[in-house]
Order: sequence, then C-alpha cells, then structure tokens
Amino acid sequence: MTKMLSKKFVCLCALFTFGIALSVSSHALTDKQKKDVDARTKPVGSLCLEGDSTCGVAVAASNGKPKTGEEVYTGTCTMCHGAGVGGAPKFGDKAAWKDRIAESLPTLHDHAIAGIRAMPPKGTCAACSDDEVKAAVDYMVAHSK
Ligand code: HEC
Repeated sequence: MTKMLSKKFVCLCALFTFGIALSVSSHALTDKQKKDVDARTKPVGSLCLEGDSTCGVAVAASNGKPKTGEEVYTGTCTMCHGAGVGGAPKFGDKAAWKDRIAESLPTLHDHAIAGIRAMPPKGTCAACSDDEVKAAVDYMVAHSK
C-alpha cells in the first residue's frame, strides 16, 4: 500500500516537474521567437541609403539591380507629379491622366524618355535606364486610372 502510494507520488511528481520544464522551455522559446521575429521584421533597408557601406549585405545586394517603377517615381518623378508642378499630371489624378492614357502606354513611355513640353527627358533622372523610366510611367498610370 505504502509502496503504491509512493509510486503514485513519484509519478505525479514527475508529471509536475515535466509540466514546469515544459512551461519554462516554452516561455524561453517564445522569447527567442520574439527576438527572431524582431530580427526578421527590422526595417534594415529603410535605415540604409543606397551605397552606404555601413549597411552591409542587404543594401549591397540591391546594387546593380534595376530600380522599380515605384522607386524611380518616389526618387524623381514625385517632385513634379506629386503636386502637379508646371502642369504635370498629378499622381492619382484620374481626370488629368485620362486623355494621356488614351494616347497609349508606348506613347507615354516615349514622351517620358524623350521629354515633352515642360516634361524633361527621363524626368531629369539621367541615371535611370529607359526601362526604369518606363516602369515609373507604368507605376504612375496604374495608380491614376
Ligand atoms: C521637372 C518636373 C517633372 C519631373 C521631375 C517629371 N515630370 Fe513628367 N511631366 C512634367 C510635366 C510638366 C508634364 C506635362 C507635359 C505636358 O503635357 O505639357 C509631364 C508629363 C508626363 C507624362 C505624360 C506625357 C504625355 O504624353 O502626356 C508622363 C508619362 C511623365 N510625365 C512621366 C514622368 C516620369 C516617369 C518621371 C520620372 C522619371 C517624370 N515624369 C518626372 C514634369 C515633370
């Protein structure tokens, strides 16, 4: 009888200890996971300027890749197309873009690259490739119709 009781006790005890161990280790895991998530979601790119050598691999890896339309737009085109400077069709202004979009996308590409009236060639982004300028046009058009 006593033997059985003590066996039960040992058994419960083991369960109890196991339970604590589990809950401790699962807390530890959660903290670690939190850290992992923090590390993964840290906005590395947003804190680094292109070409900044202190920023390490993430930025270096993006060098040499073509810029996206959005990057070209926010880097260059927005200075006129954001507010409509000098009669530039404003980003998102459907009425201002309607007739231009009707001219066809390739025409808009050509005009953006070569310039038209007050629109300077490549929107002043001399360092942009034709494809990058086209991507910026596509980006503006997609958000303005
Ligand atoms: C210095 C100001 C300025 C910058 C910077 C600028 N634009 Fe423009 N853009 C204009 C103006 C002004 C017009 C309107 C020209 C007109 O129709 O008289 C225009 C018109 C356009 C049009 C319409 C052309 C057409 O055929 O109707 C496109 C497409 C365009 N810009 C693309 C871009 C892109 C892409 C960039 C960035 C790479 C850019 N622009 C940067 C001033 C600018």
